[in-house]
Amino acid sequence: MTAPVLELRNLSKTFQLPRKGGWFAGYIDHHAVRDVSLTLPRNTILGLVGESGSGKSTTGLMTMRLMEPTSGRILIDGADISALTPAALKPYRRQMQIVFQDSYSALDPMMTLARIVAEPLHIHGIGTPDDQTEQALAMLDRVGLHRSYGQRYPHELSGGQRQRVAIARALILRPKVLVADEPTSALDVSVKAQIINLLLDLQQEMGLSILFISHDLSVVRSLTDRVAVMFNGRIVETAATETIFSDARHPYTQGLLSAIPVLNPRDRRPRRFLTAEEIERGIPRLPGAGTSPALVQVAPDHLVEAVAG
Ligand SMILES: Nc1ncnc2c1ncn2[C@@H]1O[C@H](COP(=O)(O)OP(=O)(O)OP(=O)(O)O)[C@@H](O)[C@H]1O
Ligand SMILES: [Mg+2]
Repeated sequence: MTAPVLELRNLSKTFQLPRKGGWFAGYIDHHAVRDVSLTLPRNTILGLVGESGSGKSTTGLMTMRLMEPTSGRILIDGADISALTPAALKPYRRQMQIVFQDSYSALDPMMTLARIVAEPLHIHGIGTPDDQTEQALAMLDRVGLHRSYGQRYPHELSGGQRQRVAIARALILRPKVLVADEPTSALDVSVKAQIINLLLDLQQEMGLSILFISHDLSVVRSLTDRVAVMFNGRIVETAATETIFSDARHPYTQGLLSAIPVLNPRDRRPRRFLTAEEIERGIPRLPGAGTSPALVQVAPDHLVEAVAG
């Protein structure tokens, strides 16, 4: 069996936050990500969902080694990249790219779009300058921006067009893994759908694997193959996307799903968020689980955080 393209093993991140109360008060540990293990099989899209502050972006940044984990491992194609020096990491950087919600700040305002998209080729010394430009124009065309956009600048673009440029730049090196952190959450509904379709086309065409971080459960439902649910820095449930939407077992997942905005007003269900205490109290009790909450297999490929019952 070949290794998954991306594997996170027991990844944790603790931030030291200054304690209130002045100079001598010291620091408290904030456990933003706790013991997260995830597998991204080749050629699939894994959704990472959970409310604001649950640790999704921190997980995405650590995956890319843009933030150092406090502990745990990151494996790309079975190779442990968690302790590599920047120089040793460079070949792996080609294989993993990230797209953010706010791509505008990542696009150099002084550079033409052709240069912005070509820059990763330049950094990695791939091809002649002419080849690089040609590849960038072809990639712009592929993401739906005519080659003539190569001469334009970021400020001339709409939000959706900027996101297309960010995607073109991320994919020009043909990475194996793309981390997409809320890539559509700043966009209007119709533009959002276009960008989602583009990502899906590119994923299939390039055999890409995507870690798709999102609040937007309707997008997650239509785009992803599998879903991992994060609560309070932990993964509390993971399963195939249909299973999550039809057979969620963890109270936190159930709460998230019941908060999906309903389009038809006559269909409106009561919306309420669970409190953290209610979630902790509602953790499933299963035979075979331990005394402290841990992921337990409830069906093939369906893991739920549970305690002994
Ligand atoms: N650099 C940092 N220093 C201190 N605390 C941080 C830092 N980055 C994130 N945090 C904290 O870690 C927790 C997780 O943050 P994170 O950004 O990963 O959440 P998120 O799930 O991406 O939320 P959102 O949906 O709002 O983007 C939060 O409590 C946040 O305040
Ligand atoms: Mg985030």
